Amino acid sequence: MASELSHLTSSLTSALSNLPATEKIPDGERMQILGIVNKLQEALEPPQLPLQRFCFSHYGIAVIRIAQGMGIFDAFIESQGQEMPLEELSSKAKGDDRLLKRIMRFLSTQNIFKQTTSGTYKPLPLAMVLGTGSPPGDMIKHFHTNLQVTAKLFDYFEINDYKSPDDSKHAPFQLAYNTDSHYFEWLSQNPDKQQVFNSVMTQSQQYRGADWFEIYPVEERLRASPDHVLLVDIGGGVGHDITAFQKRFPTLPGRLILQDLPQVIDTIKEPLPEGIAAIGHNMFEKQPIGGALAYYMRTVLHDFPDNQALDALARIRDAMTKESILLIHEHTMPDSPDVPPIAATLDIHMMEMFASLERTEKEWVALLTTAGLRVVKIWNEDSFGQSTALFEARLN
Ligand SMILES: C[S@@+](CC[C@H](N)C(=O)[O-])C[C@H]1O[C@@H](n2cnc3c(N)ncnc32)[C@H](O)[C@@H]1O
Repeated sequence: MASELSHLTSSLTSALSNLPATEKIPDGERMQILGIVNKLQEALEPPQLPLQRFCFSHYGIAVIRIAQGMGIFDAFIESQGQEMPLEELSSKAKGDDRLLKRIMRFLSTQNIFKQTTSGTYKPLPLAMVLGTGSPPGDMIKHFHTNLQVTAKLFDYFEINDYKSPDDSKHAPFQLAYNTDSHYFEWLSQNPDKQQVFNSVMTQSQQYRGADWFEIYPVEERLRASPDHVLLVDIGGGVGHDITAFQKRFPTLPGRLILQDLPQVIDTIKEPLPEGIAAIGHNMFEKQPIGGALAYYMRTVLHDFPDNQALDALARIRDAMTKESILLIHEHTMPDSPDVPPIAATLDIHMMEMFASLERTEKEWVALLTTAGLRVVKIWNEDSFGQSTALFEARLN
């Protein structure tokens, strides 16, 4: 056995030294190898190690958030990634030297900085993307805000007899932030958090696999006359999806409409490209664009429990004609026991913020059917270990 283990050690060491640069590894292969690495880790670890991870994992986000507050990442970005000794960093960041040293020591154990033998700190690639206004930096801020809710989950369930929440105005979020507002209303009252949320939504695009218009037979099925509305992107954030669609199909006739809550549309700084109109609209109110050829929603309805999702779908259904298509692009929770941790985690996240859930394909079909729609076709995709589906639905 000793020789088998030493053989395993040398094979892994050699595989590691021959690994291509990370950006050169195709995502499919990356996920496959990571799956094997995870299994290997599970097989090797005694229970104390996962226990230790459970107990200590939240410190990462807490310390990165402190480092952002101290301006540590901004200092390295301004000096274009030059390594710095503590004294130099101290002159560029907030806080006393003692704290700075402790924070840098922690981050150097997490593959964010490398502490050199000469005592300087060298930023690693992650450090260079966590500065002010960067989408990955905003992701830390956003999930740090959410962490306060996660910390209150246990209290919430003790108070609420361990019932799965289904009222988005009485979710763990409201308990944690001591508010009566729905999370989206609360964002509108906290413009800095709203801006960070919008940024994270734009960024999550990178991790979501193929765009819907690369999956859907656009040219075959989306033929509108030039004065007709071709597509309404409902809950489309600041327009990242609809802009990408127009770029991909610049000559398709028909108007393009972006809709989101007014407080989101108001944050759009640059004018959208010609041909795209942005409308501040609450999807629980009458849909102002009747008879569009297609209505599209990506990861909007998963933020809502069934009663509200059905309400929103009813407003769209009322606006559809028999030619209209509804395209729902969503994560799907596998029905099998083989659930990726990220899917199960996002389900808890939906629950804590919105009293909502990640639905299985069957649950999505049931939801659309209950809303009086007919699911015509489903396209399934896997991206970064998560299943997604594009549902095409029409009026019954
Ligand atoms: C999870 S984000 C998805 C954004 C975008 N579709 C994407 O996939 O990147 C959900 C979006 O729904 C919007 N939203 C929430 N409630 C809404 C409502 N009542 N009416 C319209 N949009 C809403 C949010 O502001 C947010 O932009």
